[in-house]
Amino acid sequence: MPKKINITETVLRDANQSLCATRIPIEDFVDILDTMDKAGYYSVECWGGATFDSCLRYLNEDPWERLRTIRKHMPNTKLQMLLRGQNILGYRHYSDEAVRGFVRKAVENGIDIIRIFDALNDLRNIEVAVDECLKAGAEAQGVMCYTKSPVHTLEKYVAQAKELERMGCQSLCIKDMAALLSPKEAYDLVKALKENCSLKVVVHTHSTTGLGAMTLLKAVEAGADVIDCAISPFASGTSQPCTESMNYTLKQFGYDTGLDEDVLTKIKTHFAPVKKKFLENGQINPYVMATNADGLIYQVPGGMLSNLIANLTDMNSMDKFDAVLAEIPNVRKDMGYPPLVTPLSQMVGSQATVNVIVGERYKNFPKEILSYLRGEYGRAPGEVNPDIIKKALGDEKPMTERIHVPDELPEARIKAAEIIGCKPEDVSEEDVLSYVAFPKQAEDFFRYREEHKGVKVTYAIQKVED
Ligand code: CO
Repeated sequence: MPKKINITETVLRDANQSLCATRIPIEDFVDILDTMDKAGYYSVECWGGATFDSCLRYLNEDPWERLRTIRKHMPNTKLQMLLRGQNILGYRHYSDEAVRGFVRKAVENGIDIIRIFDALNDLRNIEVAVDECLKAGAEAQGVMCYTKSPVHTLEKYVAQAKELERMGCQSLCIKDMAALLSPKEAYDLVKALKENCSLKVVVHTHSTTGLGAMTLLKAVEAGADVIDCAISPFASGTSQPCTESMNYTLKQFGYDTGLDEDVLTKIKTHFAPVKKKFLENGQINPYVMATNADGLIYQVPGGMLSNLIANLTDMNSMDKFDAVLAEIPNVRKDMGYPPLVTPLSQMVGSQATVNVIVGERYKNFPKEILSYLRGEYGRAPGEVNPDIIKKALGDEKPMTERIHVPDELPEARIKAAEIIGCKPEDVSEEDVLSYVAFPKQAEDFFRYREEHKGVKVTYAIQKVED
């Protein structure tokens, strides 16, 4: 019997997010969903992450409607989403009520697997989401955000895996957002995890640094159960390794991927012109398609790189790019080695940018970094430089408990009702949650939807360009 290896397709979420800032509207993929349902994927990652924000902010799409549409066209494939634990899909902590509501509604609207992470690997921040996910009957996939630092050891990762198992997670994902996980490290880590816990091990990496496909192959050899890949037009660069080439390689080695090549070709044929369009309209910057081995030095994830380039270009300061890249590891050390994943990646990036642009380190602090230093994001993996805490907070002491936010749902319901023009009790729970997650974007979207009421949505809605 060939050993089974499962493949998750990321084109609708992470590949979309990593290559073109999550700007693919549903009309660009709705026609291929029925075909994707026949590919034999283990799961399709299609929701969460930046998709929710992007739907409301740029695409005039109801993210919940998008999920229901995907569900309708893919009845046989597990649908997967990415959730930032207590941050839900945003960049701050939300109330436990909001987290539970979001998880429950995501499952009700069609999600089967929720990949739940905390940027700092502070598991207190994913407890509530995991608990609600299990209650809702979905698979809770606990995450270890992979990063390299003197405080991130194999023993520490194994301990975290055991903790995820204790919490009731059915699978665990090694989330290597910065493409730092080398083939050898993947092999050693997956082996250690398989030997010490009974959870399914999922490996998620990016091709940014050129290691991706090699890393996945070694991870599979070490016993990984699931790997994340993207269909070729949306593979490589800051995205995932290519589905077709991994399938080809693994089958030669005698693995059973369960994938149907003819269907993969149809999916590829559909997405090739979509990619061409995004390259032509500039929403895919060719830079993100290239291999950048600097990442192995600077530990900068793809999304963070493209953000940095955009911000520095806006400030007319692209000449400072190298200096900012070089400052990032210094800031990271001062911050106690947080993994560079959203929102920490943006925060460390802004602090490094400020340090370089101002010309003096830590003269100014972005407000998110101040919150971080107060402990509002959770526990840092290592020790935060006490001089910087002192400089930022004076005599104020950082908090040690997990932050608890009061329930925002009742007030959000009233506000959403005012905008939509109905009674609070008539606002759907989904709309309330959209408003809680992104008030300004949800408000604009609700108004847009009211103005276009009665217009049959055929997924050819005129887009508002940002
Ligand atoms: Co990713």
